[in-house]
Amino acid sequence: AFFKPAHRPLVGKTIVVTSGPTVEPIDPVRYIANRSSGKQGHAIAAALARLGATVRLVSGPVSIPDPEGVSVVHVETAREMKQAVEKHLPADAAVMVAAVADWRVESEWGQKLKKQPGGGAPTLRMVENPDILAGVGHHAERPRLVVGFAAETQDLLANARKKLEKKGADWIVANDVSHEGGVMGGDRNHVRIVSKSGVEEWPEMTKEEVAARLAEKIAEALGE
Ligand code: CTP
Ligand code: CA
Repeated sequence: AFFKPAHRPLVGKTIVVTSGPTVEPIDPVRYIANRSSGKQGHAIAAALARLGATVRLVSGPVSIPDPEGVSVVHVETAREMKQAVEKHLPADAAVMVAAVADWRVESEWGQKLKKQPGGGAPTLRMVENPDILAGVGHHAERPRLVVGFAAETQDLLANARKKLEKKGADWIVANDVSHEGGVMGGDRNHVRIVSKSGVEEWPEMTKEEVAARLAEKIAEALGE
């Protein structure tokens, strides 16, 4: 009589989550990457697992531990992340939280680039990486619910709406990263959930709280 019945509305649902940065090699010792601690994505994966979901987390290199109750595939590049995500389809939902590097060096040098005496700096030719979220949003085995994230420094809602449309997502979790010392690497987040039916603003809260609330919202959407 003292036990609270477990609240596990996501039992039987499979959800793919991406988290962390991707890392794009320049040569064997150097890379280009995005700023991302993985805190928000990992917290979401853990929160979904607590609600009973089978969670497949695809993570770039981060310094935090694998979340409990979640199977994790560790990747480095955007291309590896895309391949790992698509291997996990079909799924009931996808939540793409990773800070994917938009560009990579066109061809990685096989040897360490050396400084030349009196020589200048190398010029890097970049090419665009595949868009993993858009790939999932337009996939033949598209999950019923596709959620993306957007960190913006200006025109938050207009940019989020454009991403929603272009990437075939159902929701974009948008956060304003224009202020100093904020979201990046921090423990708190202030988000708006942008969907076709409007914008839902959530008060500022911890990344854990955002994760728990988002997991509940996902459970509700998948329960309909
Ligand atoms: N994303 C992705 N693959 C990429 C780039 C982004 O899956 N190559 C996903 C991110 O995980 C996030 C969403 O798309 O869920 C938005 O990422 P963002 O960087 O804000 O969008 P971009 O389309 O890259 O636009 P920009 O960086 O120019 O604002
Ligand atoms: Ca980007």
